[in-house]
Amino acid sequence: MSTPYDSQQVKTILAERGAQVEAYLQHCLDAIPMQGRLKEAMYYSLLAGGKRLRPVLCLSTAALFGLSAEAVMPFAASLEMIHTYSLIHDDLPAMDDDDLRRGRPSCHKAFDEATAILAGDALLTDAFGFMASTVKDLPAGRVLEALASVSSAAGSAGMVGGQILDMDCTGKTDVPLETLQTLHALKTGAMFRVACVSGGLLAGASEPDIASLRAYGEALGVTFQIVDDMLDYTGVSNDIGKNLGADLREGKVTLPLLYARLHTSEENRALIDAAIRSGNGDFDKISSIVIESQAIARCKQRAEQELERGKVALLQ
Ligand code: IPE
Ligand code: IPE
Ligand code: MG
Ligand code: MG
Ligand code: MG
Repeated sequence: MSTPYDSQQVKTILAERGAQVEAYLQHCLDAIPMQGRLKEAMYYSLLAGGKRLRPVLCLSTAALFGLSAEAVMPFAASLEMIHTYSLIHDDLPAMDDDDLRRGRPSCHKAFDEATAILAGDALLTDAFGFMASTVKDLPAGRVLEALASVSSAAGSAGMVGGQILDMDCTGKTDVPLETLQTLHALKTGAMFRVACVSGGLLAGASEPDIASLRAYGEALGVTFQIVDDMLDYTGVSNDIGKNLGADLREGKVTLPLLYARLHTSEENRALIDAAIRSGNGDFDKISSIVIESQAIARCKQRAEQELERGKVALLQ
């Protein structure tokens, strides 16, 4: 077995493969035969400096099974298009109502709501065309299987299903841990899972290897969402490119808040619940309750367990 990469090596891979993805995304948009504000909004959101984790995972898993970045790139880049569409829609006033994304105004703020909705629709729909285009280099059966797995991960049984569950939980104070876990697995785990699985499918990996990639990808996505939820309390806005405290303002009981509610006084719990219901609680006060109740430490522990589960699945 090869030695695991250290964090510096991971950063280098992310930077190198991320730059390849960046260049290809630019090329994809240039190839769209249309001008005007729809295309401007697509450029604006897609080329805004995201971390490119999902396409890099797809390229990396394909490489594990000997498939070149060149052959898989249109597919990998399409995952970023789908992810970006999900962010544009996630920020809309009817959803999370966030005005900062990737360090600049969200799409609906920079343009308008209708343009943002349509830019998201276009990115999602065009992505399937780019994915299908990999058939010029790869066997059609593999491409179709990978395409079907993306449809299922991005749609009602995956990311969109997770987003509606997220909406259903918004404003509710007593969200059970199991519901939050399902929500994480769907809204974020599914796209990470398919990023890993599709690379393997395109490369012709065996069924047992695909099963390992599936379990690893989902665990990585769930870990990632837990960290995202923690950063909403502990991060630095300039680093994460989003407003801090957005989850509380939106009335979301994310994992840090769920743990804080369970391990604090009646009085503090009442403060948290009032903040969730009203959406205008005192963020500094609530985040100090989150820290003092050890909720962040518990989230870290949970994230580490989840990641370990993924690593074990990968090494099977
Ligand atoms: C943000 O995803 C949405 C979540 C699943 C938490 P990323 O943190 O990967 O966003 P970008 O693509 O780097 O902007
Ligand atoms: C969004 O989760 C996951 C998506 C499917 C887009 P969040 O709502 O927590 O993502 P951020 O924090 O706005 O990036
Ligand atoms: Mg959201
Ligand atoms: Mg959001
Ligand atoms: Mg978030």
